Amino acid sequence: MEDIVNDRPSTDASMNTLVSLCKRRGFVYQSSEVYGGLTSAWDYGPLGVELKNRIQRAWWRAMTQLHDNIVGLDAAILMHPRVWEASGHVENFTDPLVDCRTCRNRFRTDQMSEELLNARKCPECGGELTDPRQFNLMFKTHLGPVESDASVVYLRPETAQGIYVNFKNVVQTSRVKVPFGIAQVGKAFRNEITTKNFIFRTCEFEQMEMQFFVHPSEDEKWFEYWKAERFEFYKRLGVRQSRLRFHQHGPGELAHYAKVAFDIQYEFPFGWKELEGIHNRTDYDLRRHMEFSGKDLSYLDDVRGERFTPFVIETSAGLTRTVLTVLADAYDEDEVEGEKRSVLRLHPELAPITVGVFPLVKKDGLAELAGEIERSLREEFSTFYDQGGAIGRRYRRQDEVGTPFGITVDYQSKEDRTVTLRFRDSMEQVRVKIEELPERIRRAIREYRRMGE
Ligand code: GAP
Repeated sequence: MEDIVNDRPSTDASMNTLVSLCKRRGFVYQSSEVYGGLTSAWDYGPLGVELKNRIQRAWWRAMTQLHDNIVGLDAAILMHPRVWEASGHVENFTDPLVDCRTCRNRFRTDQMSEELLNARKCPECGGELTDPRQFNLMFKTHLGPVESDASVVYLRPETAQGIYVNFKNVVQTSRVKVPFGIAQVGKAFRNEITTKNFIFRTCEFEQMEMQFFVHPSEDEKWFEYWKAERFEFYKRLGVRQSRLRFHQHGPGELAHYAKVAFDIQYEFPFGWKELEGIHNRTDYDLRRHMEFSGKDLSYLDDVRGERFTPFVIETSAGLTRTVLTVLADAYDEDEVEGEKRSVLRLHPELAPITVGVFPLVKKDGLAELAGEIERSLREEFSTFYDQGGAIGRRYRRQDEVGTPFGITVDYQSKEDRTVTLRFRDSMEQVRVKIEELPERIRRAIREYRRMGE
């Protein structure tokens, strides 16, 4: 067993360390890098897309499979432009901005110091700033070949509206009864000005949103229910509870549609920031769509014998932001045999690779046996076979991408059909019969707890 020094608190990842690991190991690349990159757009590499898909699957399962009253939807990104008038986004989805007359940079006034703002001084070059004005965050494009005002459409800034405009369709076709929810995962787009901090805030991102339709008299009860559920979700993903907290929106922070809102915040390397928003949107959206479309979106409750417009409790999580959260939370360093080890302590359900399989040496039939074991595990687990270099180096490569289990085939394996199973976090190694590997790994996944938590 490797000699591990692990009796100290986890090491925080700096953003530079994370960005470099993500690039080096194929989690996240800068978009269009060969052309010098595009600000605020990122591509998910082979391991990044696996991690993102696993987070999405965990959310989908938690929402739809584990609740008998939530159904799914996948609405189009492009919607009728009236949707965004009704939703209030054309009028209200704005950031207050100033421009620098000298360097032409643009800044959000709510993120500038009072001092610079009062002096109308550019934070970059000291040049003179323009008067503040409201800047709409929606991306506009044109549908069809003619670029006119009549052909304007928007890239959706939230997935939620696709759910509201399908409310009636779902009620009529799915036999759902209030209270019930509609869940959706998809891309959203915002022309954000502040786009630093890697994938935290980007112009193109993914959301995992669920709109829960309730009787107006039950909004507070369901709001509390979803607040608690959503907090638990991140704990179940293995995110440390000490890095999670709630933040209630003050009157100045509330979105135009919200009566009450709480964020679940995570302590990122750059401070406490929003990870998910839980909003009581009242009947605002359905009511506005009724007004603008002229269609009746009220609900007839045959148990209560009452017709009403449901209130909506919304849980709105950023998928790409959760990728950053999970990576930042998982990153750790310790010391093994006098050398620094970088390790991602990812929950095994999220790790892009679940099991690494390594022959101790390539010769004497060990590579063949290791290949056979790897192929037999593929059906159930995501596996990776590696026969190159010293075994310690191979372990280290998998630790760095968060692979929770390693199987090593050695000479004894040929004699008694046992292998060593190595655990990423503790680096403990146990001898296991080859036939017992699947059950042993299954159990370790089920019982996984982060060390020290
Ligand atoms: N439908 C409600 C809504 O969109 P929001 O608080 O604006 O609410 C919800 O966004 C979540 O979407 C945020 O908590 C965050 O995780 C994610 N998100 C929002 N803007 C983002 C951006 N520019 N880049 C990455 N994620 C973003």
